Amino acid sequence: MRKLLLVAICLLVLFCGCEKEAESTLDSADDKLIVVGFSQVGAESEWRVANTESIKATLTEENGYVLFYEDARQEQENQIRAIRTFIQQEVDYILFSPKVETGWDSILLEAKKANIPVIVTDRYIESDVEGLFTAYIGSNFYSEGETAVLWLEDFLKKQSRTEEPVHIVHIQGTIGSTAQIGRTAALEQAVSKHPNWQLVAQQCGDFTRAKAYEVMGSILEDTKDIDVVYCENDGEALGAIAALEEAGLVCNPVDGVIVISFDATRLGLQYCLEQKIALNVECNPLQGPYVDEIIKKLERKEPIGRIRYVEETQFDCFTITQEMIDIRDY
Ligand code: AHR
Repeated sequence: MRKLLLVAICLLVLFCGCEKEAESTLDSADDKLIVVGFSQVGAESEWRVANTESIKATLTEENGYVLFYEDARQEQENQIRAIRTFIQQEVDYILFSPKVETGWDSILLEAKKANIPVIVTDRYIESDVEGLFTAYIGSNFYSEGETAVLWLEDFLKKQSRTEEPVHIVHIQGTIGSTAQIGRTAALEQAVSKHPNWQLVAQQCGDFTRAKAYEVMGSILEDTKDIDVVYCENDGEALGAIAALEEAGLVCNPVDGVIVISFDATRLGLQYCLEQKIALNVECNPLQGPYVDEIIKKLERKEPIGRIRYVEETQFDCFTITQEMIDIRDY
């Protein structure tokens, strides 16, 4: 009955012209397939594309799943609408990567009422209401930021730049997202600890190359006296570097601007190898296998850890090699 209902809803959705995946699998009479609705925030970065691919490549029919995928195109409203549709479709699990931390209470209460477990991936949600989700899988963004500022502290110490002013430009990710909140908090705390670190500009680059290029360009109209550019992802770093170079500045930690980035995508690491990015802190997008593991445990009624951080590392431009880049999956 439940599968029949799903087929009917999906046919309706198909006729309405909405994007859906895995409809063909719904013809299957296999009731054991686990139906997952996944609301992805968008496709703003290389990281995001790799994250989507990882989920899609893991939650396959061969692996026991039917996946409904919705791209929210950076709109929280679209995510809320997608989750509501998943509830109506009576999926077995709802998976979503929230654009921002807040504003999810009512829709997640609807999911709770419908007894559908919610797994939050990548970015976290904040709420005063208890038990809105079953599990979270993602990054410890504050700790990523801490890795970056500790590296900077150490590097500046080695250069004996502990007294002279260090002018820092900060290009933030999407405001209100966990990735922005954690990485920003780590930088702001480090700035308050170091009297010679001065935040000369702080603007939002929305995790995209184009926006970061634009904001870096406008910052450069005010000042070119810049020592460090702290970008909250690789896309932003690439955009900022393009603007800095166009303005005649050199990106190089030894005798130019020290660019710090997050994600460690192939392209970001290639920039690191060229020393244009001094430090690239990994943000691991390969979360599909973690999601699969949690769902399978829940299916077997085994205990799970509610918060699961993915494994991550860091790369600096003095020790990275081409071989390190070549063996990476994204
Ligand atoms: O939430 C993860 C962040 O979002 C990644 O750092 C960024 O590239 C993405 O768009």
